[in-house]
Amino acid sequence: MASAGDPPTGPRDAADQNFDYMFKLLLIGNSSVGKTSFLFRYADDSFTPAFVSTVGIDFKDTAGQERYRTITTAYYRGAMGFLLMYDVANQESFTAVQDWATQIKTYSWDNAQVILVGNKCDLEDERVVPAEDGRRLADDLGFEFFEASAKENINVKQVFERLVDVICEKMNESLEPSSSPGSNGKGPALGDTPPPQPSGCSC
Ligand code: GTP
Ligand code: MG
Repeated sequence: MASAGDPPTGPRDAADQNFDYMFKLLLIGNSSVGKTSFLFRYADDSFTPAFVSTVGIDFKDTAGQERYRTITTAYYRGAMGFLLMYDVANQESFTAVQDWATQIKTYSWDNAQVILVGNKCDLEDERVVPAEDGRRLADDLGFEFFEASAKENINVKQVFERLVDVICEKMNESLEPSSSPGSNGKGPALGDTPPPQPSGCSC
C-alpha cells in the first residue's frame, strides 16, 4: 500500500523513483473519522465499510485513538502538510479539531500547511456539522477547507492535490528574492526547514 508520504502518483512501484520532490504528509483526526479510508480511496481507489481501527502509525496514516497520541505527535516533526479530518456526522470529532490544530501548532514545523476536511459528506441525513461551521472554523484557524467522502469518492483527489499545491506555492514564495529569510518577518523560509525528502527515502 502506498502512504500519504509517497509522491501522489498512486501505489508504490519502480516508477515512483521518478519524481522531483517527496513531501511528508500526515492525516490526523479522531478515531473513525475516515483517515484510513481516505488514504485507501486515494492510493488504491478502494473503500471498505468495515471499521478496522489503525494501531499506532500505519505509514503516515495516524491513529485517532487517544492512547496512540504520543506516538502520533512524534511523527509531526518534518511533516510539510496535514489533512486534519473530522466526520460531518460526529460532533465530537468536530469539537476535537481545535485540539488537533493546537497539536499541529505545538509539534510541527511553523510553515506546515493544513487542510481541514469534513469527511463523510455522503451522510447527509446524519449530518450534525453544517458545512458553514466547518468553513468558519477553517477560516479562524487559517486553514483551507473541503468537505469530502472517501466512500463516494468526493473531493479525495482534490484534497491531496490542493495540499501539494499549497506546499509548492509556499516553497516558491520562499524562493522569491523578496522573501529571503528575515525580509518578510514571517520566520524561516520553507527552504530552510524540512527539505523535500530525497528520492529513495522509504519513510
Ligand atoms: P482510526 O484508525 O481509529 O483513527 O480511524 P480512521 O479515522 O482511520 O477511520 P476509518 O477510515 O477506519 O473509518 C471508520 C469507519 O467510517 C469505517 O467503517 C469506514 O467504512 C467509514 N467511513 C470512512 N469514510 C467514510 C465516508 O466517506 N462515508 C461513510 N459513510 N463512511 C465512511
Ligand atoms: Mg485508521
